[in-house]
Amino acid sequence: MPQTYTDFIRKYPTYENTKPLDDLRARDYTRLDRGGHIYLDYTGGGIYAESQVRQHQALLLEHTYGNPHSTNPSSMAATQLVESARHYALHFFNADPEEYDLIFTPNASGALKLVGESYPFAPGGHYLLTFDNHNSVNGIREFAHARGAQVTYLPVMLPDLRVDESGLTQNLALAQPGAHNLFAFPAQSNFSSVKHPLRWIEQAHAAGWDVLLDAAAFAPTNKLDLNVYKPDFVPLSFYKIFGYPTGLGALIAKRSALAKLHRPWFAGGTITFATVQGDKYYLADNHAAFEDGTVDYLNIPAIEIGLRHMENIGMDVIGERVSMLTGWLLENLTEMKHTTGQPLVRVYGPTDTESRGGAVTVNFFDQHGQAIDHRSIEELANKQNISLRTGCFCNPGAGEVALGISRVELDVCINAPGHENRLTLDDFRLCIDGKNSGAVRISVGMVTNFEDIQAFLKFCEGLLR
Ligand SMILES: Cc1ncc(COP(=O)(O)O)c(C=O)c1O
Repeated sequence: MPQTYTDFIRKYPTYENTKPLDDLRARDYTRLDRGGHIYLDYTGGGIYAESQVRQHQALLLEHTYGNPHSTNPSSMAATQLVESARHYALHFFNADPEEYDLIFTPNASGALKLVGESYPFAPGGHYLLTFDNHNSVNGIREFAHARGAQVTYLPVMLPDLRVDESGLTQNLALAQPGAHNLFAFPAQSNFSSVKHPLRWIEQAHAAGWDVLLDAAAFAPTNKLDLNVYKPDFVPLSFYKIFGYPTGLGALIAKRSALAKLHRPWFAGGTITFATVQGDKYYLADNHAAFEDGTVDYLNIPAIEIGLRHMENIGMDVIGERVSMLTGWLLENLTEMKHTTGQPLVRVYGPTDTESRGGAVTVNFFDQHGQAIDHRSIEELANKQNISLRTGCFCNPGAGEVALGISRVELDVCINAPGHENRLTLDDFRLCIDGKNSGAVRISVGMVTNFEDIQAFLKFCEGLLR
């Protein structure tokens, strides 16, 4: 196949404009090439620049920071950095601080749990969500069920795994006026990489819904502008955007939406006053009411360092580069055929770059059209130091549609004797007998280069018979 850089540039001439990212990788991500890594799991986790770690380390080595719950000098120094990071993160997403607040959480899942446990679900209320969602968004349905709200799933359709918009309009019309209705969808799928339309946010608002936009997979390679699109709740994880530190995410929420939430408990840091004998507590205002205990005050400053790093590069450049590399990957992958004429892969999701991100989810097939288990693909890739992700990526809804696993098959497995309380992935594989229970996800990120994609395509060529 004519897969030279010249061919690539002929097809994607503006790639050369993204050369600063190659220079940056050579300078600030040296360990990737030194270790011979072909890192293709950016949806799983971002890769940090070495300068981010150095800047953070210098901050820690040069200053003394104490628990921010005091007013002593070391405490105030920590508070100042935490608040600076909070403001910077709001600025990064172009969120007006008068309109939006930002709560630090351990990760996107932590942000989602805050919404789930505090949203006023009640009989007459509704939780509407797309099939295509991370499990931490699916998990909110348990709070909705427990409090008697209706739960409705919006299907995604083959082959592109997008939502049928007429179904969306019909379901949005089901909101009962006066009740609490929450609609949740990912700005970008972590399974198919479909970018679901952000205009749904206003459509849902107009129909009486609060909107939770899961930005965890979208934010690393796209500009999320909260001055243009105004969801009520936005969960995300910072390590997915710039790799370091792990253990921190955020819930960016409209102040008006936060006021609707009722926390199920109080904790240190979340109250202005609590008594033991009086059996009473008063929650603090705004983000403070949602940050349980001591925030991660030594790592939060690294968020500002990471965000400034992203801003220096420019989200547009990152997005363009990821799109071009993804286009090249898709074109070459879908062209690969065994000598029998059988295609090597089946792509789950869009096969072009229109309204999609940089993750490509596939299964591999042999020359007879038999599916190759995703686990053996991972083992083979591991041997070549290629990091990719296999399984269902915590997105069972998209996986079930992509892999053709029906409601009936699922019911059979769930209701089989011995599976009342326990069903492992291996049990499930046995149960669906021969069907694929997962896929392989290759995800392109901010410092992926042409050579990474070529190395992966070469690996794929090696599977041709
Ligand atoms: C779309 C999406 N939402 C939520 C999450 C959960 O993120 P975390 O595991 O950091 O809580 C992920 C993680 O992959 C994701 O891709």
